[in-house]
Amino acid sequence: MSVDAVDTGKRRFLTAATTVVGGVGTAFLLVPFLSAWNPSAKARAAGAPVEADISKLEPGQMMTVEWRGKPIWIVYRTERNLEDLPTLRDQLLDPDSEMPQQPEYCKNEYRSRKPEHLVSVGICTHLGCSPTYRPEIAPADLGADWKGGFFCPCHGSRFDLASRVYAGVPAPKNMEIPPYYYLSETRILIGEDGEDA
Ligand code: FES
Repeated sequence: MSVDAVDTGKRRFLTAATTVVGGVGTAFLLVPFLSAWNPSAKARAAGAPVEADISKLEPGQMMTVEWRGKPIWIVYRTERNLEDLPTLRDQLLDPDSEMPQQPEYCKNEYRSRKPEHLVSVGICTHLGCSPTYRPEIAPADLGADWKGGFFCPCHGSRFDLASRVYAGVPAPKNMEIPPYYYLSETRILIGEDGEDA
């Protein structure tokens, strides 16, 4: 093989490599460009309301949607859960939601618009971890008094199924309830109060 032939081969390889790198570079450049001009991405970043379809949610289940970069939990509480909530008062730090952690229309015993659905920001009010959904009644690790709720694995804060914090844990407040309203029986808009607020 002559020196010329080797050089030509090298040049071909270099040209091909440059083309591939160029292609990758272009793809990376296009993504931020497109998303910057995508209206829905812009709207999301600005905190536009988010619609949640709850038609598949069954009693005892929880689903999560994202609003303003935060997890929003929607829990379909069971009849048993609704009966248990009032019995927890004495164990809670702020059972009547005196602290401004919810819209006025959720300042009630269930902290919600409809008793069966909890809609809550899923962020612990201690240092911002996302607690775990623990709907079981009296599991071994949470004790015989546990009636279902949320447990924060970071430092052990506990919340009931209305996102109310138990007394004596690190978290100082109930978890936040976002503004929301029902668009229909099966659709919730999170991020706006609705006309009745
Ligand atoms: S962040 Fe939840 S208990 Fe500390």
